[in-house]
Amino acid sequence: MSDRLLIADGNSNLRENLSNYLQKEGFTVDGASNFHQALNTYASYLHDLAIIEIELPDGDGIELASKIKTLNPKVKIILTTSYPSISTALKAIKIKVEDYLIKPFVFDEIRVSLSKLSVLHEKEEKQEKVYSFKEKEEILSIIGESVEIKLLFEKIKKIANTPTNVLLLGETGTGKELFARAIHESSYRKKKPFVAINCASLPENLLESELFGFIKGAFTGATSDKKGLLEIADCGTVFLDEIGDIPLSLQAKLLRVLEDREIRPLGSVISKKVDLRFISATNKDLIEAVKEGKFREDLFFRLNVITLSIPPLRERGRDIEILAYHFMRKFAIKMGKTLKKIDPRALKLLYKHPWPGNIRELQNVIEQAVVFCESDTIMPEDLPEYIQSPEKFLDRAKEIPVLSIEEYTKEFILKYQSIYTEQELAEMLGITRKALWEKRKKWGIPRSS
Ligand SMILES: Nc1ncnc2c1ncn2[C@@H]1O[C@H](COP(=O)(O)OP(=O)(O)OP(=O)(O)O)[C@@H](O)[C@H]1O
Ligand SMILES: [Mg+2]
Repeated sequence: MSDRLLIADGNSNLRENLSNYLQKEGFTVDGASNFHQALNTYASYLHDLAIIEIELPDGDGIELASKIKTLNPKVKIILTTSYPSISTALKAIKIKVEDYLIKPFVFDEIRVSLSKLSVLHEKEEKQEKVYSFKEKEEILSIIGESVEIKLLFEKIKKIANTPTNVLLLGETGTGKELFARAIHESSYRKKKPFVAINCASLPENLLESELFGFIKGAFTGATSDKKGLLEIADCGTVFLDEIGDIPLSLQAKLLRVLEDREIRPLGSVISKKVDLRFISATNKDLIEAVKEGKFREDLFFRLNVITLSIPPLRERGRDIEILAYHFMRKFAIKMGKTLKKIDPRALKLLYKHPWPGNIRELQNVIEQAVVFCESDTIMPEDLPEYIQSPEKFLDRAKEIPVLSIEEYTKEFILKYQSIYTEQELAEMLGITRKALWEKRKKWGIPRSS
């Protein structure tokens, strides 16, 4: 059980004192003064424990408890109330909270209650071990040992079996689709379809008929009925890739599906009920799109109940090495070669590269390296030239007309300044550090820390 817990209570004195007390007991505490704030904080951390006041200033704590149980069925909840009544106690039992304390309580009561819960949790963990191996194996197709990826695994385990919609954010090639599949595979929907739809790949009218289907005669060329993907996915998971590119008119129609849980094929007057979980993905800034009026705010909130941000490869530390070895073995087997190692100098180059194309790029690079490798060790010269010597690659860029070099240099600095030192950046650009400083000043680019 993690040591992070949530206290939702409208009384700021009580919240602070109880926080201090529990922090001394070793917990990390997040406080929320109302229903709304508590739900937001909970969605970010998915705490294992929550202490919730029933009489929150802007809503009912029992309803909050029930909402967070849907987000994380394993959460342990202690409800507190100043107005105990049989009806609230019955409601609390119905949503299966772990404890119900009447105010004023002494903090020791909370401590006793919490320690009972951890004993309970340990027992549950032991029981879980019987099948947890299988669960691990399924998520194992996602390789990674960095803290960031492990945290994502934890979150996936918690949310997989809930009906909650998920938004996956991440640069290209970070594994958004892989994570979407992992959520589906770890959920009770896994025997039902996982339907992936790329919202950017089809023109508006085709996308609409793909999603909703049509009946015979709906338009010229509709010679027979066709089921839409949303109907095919019934009881399963719909993966809406590149959701940022879905046209506004379709956003309204999609919103209706999310709200009413039913679809109506083009040309039909009859709606059909569907049970769907939506996982969406984008590498665009959706909040910005909402501000610009390109993405509906109501749809954004419906799709984005939980956000999972997948970090870029360059921020995943040793995962670069772990993944490189994984792909080396995979391609070696495929090509019938015996490869054992990656030379430390080659590894160093892999660590230095910023991987704008993330795992997809690394996978391609290692595939090429396995093709070229003539021993049992991947050497620097087996790697593509732009990774072996990025300086040389840049030299070639200098052959481009003067104006675009300026643009190129600016972009280069912005892109790589967080990865390389000042000295390395200047060397790669073939300029002095002073010249680099002058360029920064001219373009107003502050030094990244
Ligand atoms: N952690 C990982 N372990 C193993 N393979 C991975 C991992 N992450 C990504 N991959 C592989 O990298 C490739 C790219 O992943 P994926 O298609 O899921 O990325 P994406 O974020 O959807 O990219 P895009 O934004 O370009 O659509 C796939 O071949 C996937 O199997
Ligand atoms: Mg993708």
